Amino acid sequence: MAEAIYPVPAEWAQNALIDEARYQQMYERSIADPDGFWREEGQRIDWIKPFSVVKQTSFHEADFGISWFTDGTLNLSANCLDRHLAERGDAIAILWEPDDPKNPERRITYRELHEAVCRFANLLKARGVKRGERVTIYLPMVPEAAVAMLACARIGAIHSIVFAGFSPDALAGRIQDCDSRIVLTSDEGLRGGKKVPLKANVDEALKACPGVDSVIVLSHTGAGVPMAEGRDIDWASAVAAQPADCPPEEMRAEDPLFILYTSGSTGKPKGVLHTTGGYAVWASMTHEYVFDYRPGQIYWCAADIGWVTGHSYVVYGPLMNGATTVMFEGVPNFPDASRFWQVVDKFQVEIFYGAPTALRALMREGDDFVKKTSRKSLRLLGSVGEPINPEAWSWYHEVVGEGRCPIVDTWWQTETGGAMITPLPGATALKPGSASKPMFGVKPMLLDNEGGVLEGATDGCLVIADSWPGQMRTVWGDHERFFQTYFSTFAGYYFTGDGCRRDEDGYYWITGRIDDVINVSGHRMGTAEIESALVAHHAVAEAAVVGMPHEIKGQGIYAFVTCNAEIEPDEALRKELVQWVRHEIGPIATPDVIQFAPGLPKTRSGKIMRRILRKIGENDFSNLGDTSTLADPSVVDNLIANRPQPA
Ligand code: WT7
Repeated sequence: MAEAIYPVPAEWAQNALIDEARYQQMYERSIADPDGFWREEGQRIDWIKPFSVVKQTSFHEADFGISWFTDGTLNLSANCLDRHLAERGDAIAILWEPDDPKNPERRITYRELHEAVCRFANLLKARGVKRGERVTIYLPMVPEAAVAMLACARIGAIHSIVFAGFSPDALAGRIQDCDSRIVLTSDEGLRGGKKVPLKANVDEALKACPGVDSVIVLSHTGAGVPMAEGRDIDWASAVAAQPADCPPEEMRAEDPLFILYTSGSTGKPKGVLHTTGGYAVWASMTHEYVFDYRPGQIYWCAADIGWVTGHSYVVYGPLMNGATTVMFEGVPNFPDASRFWQVVDKFQVEIFYGAPTALRALMREGDDFVKKTSRKSLRLLGSVGEPINPEAWSWYHEVVGEGRCPIVDTWWQTETGGAMITPLPGATALKPGSASKPMFGVKPMLLDNEGGVLEGATDGCLVIADSWPGQMRTVWGDHERFFQTYFSTFAGYYFTGDGCRRDEDGYYWITGRIDDVINVSGHRMGTAEIESALVAHHAVAEAAVVGMPHEIKGQGIYAFVTCNAEIEPDEALRKELVQWVRHEIGPIATPDVIQFAPGLPKTRSGKIMRRILRKIGENDFSNLGDTSTLADPSVVDNLIANRPQPA
């Protein structure tokens, strides 16, 4: 089948930082001579003490280890702020757009941001926060969230951001796992005109976290919230009392920068740990090359800071590069489906980076919401978080970008720190739906299920053959789990968990997760997590969760639930279970379908055959495969006969 190819527009080929020839030459060098390549790219950072060693890495069990720029020292907040003050102190660092367009935006210069970060860093120190300590951040999309991140980086504390849509239980689990004794939050969050009771959630979570002795509370909506004497302090007044200067701590390249929890195929969410030097080089380099970023351009990544995209491409990457980064508190369809493009016009955004799920939702509202805005400022569009289907790609390209803006479809993961497979706008001809070519230093390979290397045009399991600077370094508190999760499936390779196709032109097409992880609206969910939330309900004996195709979300959540013997499942229980999961994990885990099942398809040894459940979830009963090994094959017929149709 012939695929559409969009050649690099001539202006881009001429003016971009990297054209096709340069991409080839730099890519080849990055693979053939990683030490030389990264020694040069490493110069983009202001090191306090320059590094002499570059790459010390092995994915093999015998000498496993990942260390980059090991003997260099730096401070990441100084790289995001101090280094810009002389030349760009009065340039806007953060352009903040509130949830409600009737409220005023905020424009924060590099100098103002520097001062806010220094004051907040001093406040953290005054609360006893030390180097290496974990600070939990549970804040809405407000500039103070970036201030908090940079203040942690300034004093060498490790931030752990918990997405403000997560439940008190999920928050508590993350606070406990990394043993943090300080939490930063706000009275409330605002999303699409609705209030989110963040402080109340923190109070609820802290019932299970006796170790927390400090909560710093930002007054955002002005709602009066109860403050616990001795534990809770008001952000604004505490900050005002702090000095406006705080010298940056000298950190080693491999000192931890942040923890970010993400879901895997088993167990509770893992604390993905990123360190300082390699992450800094990777976030800044990928931000510059993928978006062809030049200082002065207005850049907007519409991700929340609760996800890695917000870490690398709202805060760290852009600020290291002296960018004006837009931070948006709201949602794409409030007050209506024009909002994204109104904000583009208001701030004259040149580069917009968003998620396919939002585009699909907006596409459904019709072109008028787009067409009544100008969007003349846009020159480049980006996509992230899940595969972008060709229909959404074309809509993004033709309607939003009026055919004039290249689309960079960036494949990466929380674990990878930044973009791994992506077009570069001046170098890569685009194929809708393909993340295309590897970033410098990234060596993707496709393996068969037995670990055999596949060459040429083929489908396989996507692995990365060698380390890159932005790679995660460990799972917080469980280095063995790090090795087991990523390096034991295929010895000597980093296993991504994704399936992938490579075409005749060497383009990569991510086909989706091949483990028990589902991608709901670009958010990663472990099916095991949802299952354990379900079985925690008194009525539930057993649960199995699979992904199902969903027009807007990419994947929806399909749960098979077996109730305890004395329970008669009904509509009321179905609703209760949906609420239960929302309460246990958060609204992003809301099941789309719950099917009550008297039994689940199991092998004689008692293993649930998920392959069959996935097929039922997909409403595809044609290729159920071999069911003869099931303990009771009639279970499957029952499930098919009683499959509820989603609303
Ligand atoms: C998983 C990682 C990338 C940061 C935000 C999500 C899927 C991500 C793409 C893309 C196809 C994609 C993969 C990956 N994914 N980007 N451009 N095309 N799939 O990070 O929550 O760690 O999820 O998202 O399945 O493994 P994450």
